[in-house]
Amino acid sequence: MYNSAIKGLGFYLPENIVTNNDLSGLMDTSDKWITERTGIKERRWVNDDKLTTSLMGTYASERAIIDSGIDKKDIDFIIFSTLSPDYYFPGSGVLLQRNLEIKEVGALDIRNQCSGFIYGLSIADQYIKSGMYKNILVVGSEIHSGGLDKSTRGRSVSVIFGDGAGAAVVSATTSNSGILSTHLHSEGKFAEELAVIKPATSFWIDKIKAETNKDDTSYFPYMNGNFVFKNAVIRFEEVIFEGLNHSNLKKEDISLLITHQANLRISQYIQKRLNLSDSQVFNNIMKYGNTTAASIPIALTEAYKSNLIKKGDIVVLAAFGSGFTWGSAIIKW
Ligand code: UT7
Repeated sequence: MYNSAIKGLGFYLPENIVTNNDLSGLMDTSDKWITERTGIKERRWVNDDKLTTSLMGTYASERAIIDSGIDKKDIDFIIFSTLSPDYYFPGSGVLLQRNLEIKEVGALDIRNQCSGFIYGLSIADQYIKSGMYKNILVVGSEIHSGGLDKSTRGRSVSVIFGDGAGAAVVSATTSNSGILSTHLHSEGKFAEELAVIKPATSFWIDKIKAETNKDDTSYFPYMNGNFVFKNAVIRFEEVIFEGLNHSNLKKEDISLLITHQANLRISQYIQKRLNLSDSQVFNNIMKYGNTTAASIPIALTEAYKSNLIKKGDIVVLAAFGSGFTWGSAIIKW
């Protein structure tokens, strides 16, 4: 029986930095409001038409593969998570396979928004533990900037989201370290509390062409911010403890907690509830905003490259978002 371990990590960010002050030139907002409510100071927004979600995922994956030390021909499965795919279909996983020029391995797209990377990690973990695959590429990549309402009408959502990509090579190991457990959840009764409703099969080509209401906001992301916030803090704490209890660990055993970077206030609340020191929690939302499926692999890569994770550490990952979906992964490094 194999365990699965993260063998390589990488991320890619578009170069174009958009500060809070840049946004106050587009809409009625301020650096003060955004900083106080979210902790975000700047984010990356793609300004190059050639840069797609799958291409950013490819760049992140190339870095993760180099970091892992394996040959890309040894990747035997791809898991791609995004809410902002290149095409309606096919998914971005096959585009990544094409871009990487690797053999005809399986490519799975998953649609779990902010929890996408944890869902992907969980699937990779099970495939490896079952012996089916040895090296799986798990990718999260998002281009939000093209789909945001950048007027004052959309300010409560658009100031939060950033573009970026992160990737991990998850590989089989015979050691007792690696992914100790993953736990996944969903609560579909709140699907519309954080969603993009159109285009949809119930509102398809003929209806889109016939649309006369130029103020229809259902093409933009909608978020019931306060409601999402209140659910997030409860679910984060629950699913972190679920993972720790499953692995017979206590909160004191956490070496590093990386939560999905949704809002700095959410991360700080969880830190306080778990009584963790600043050195036990990693945040980078200040620089990149909320990059949904990409936020955990970007943060994990940054923490790892900054030597904040060492062998034997207990690293806890947790996410919550649209669906609602949420999950955690407990990793012994
Ligand atoms: O990643 C997936 C999971 N997502 C999350 O977990 C996000 C959860 N929610 C949040 O992070 C917060 O709810 C937000 C950051 C989205 C909003 O913060 P808030 O403290 O909940 O603010 P609010 O929505 O209650 O808005 C407070 C005020 C409102 O004005 P009034 O009605 O009090 O006059 C808004 O119109 O702030 C106004 N406002 C803004 N003002 C300046 C909303 N957005 C902005 C803005 N700039 N960008």
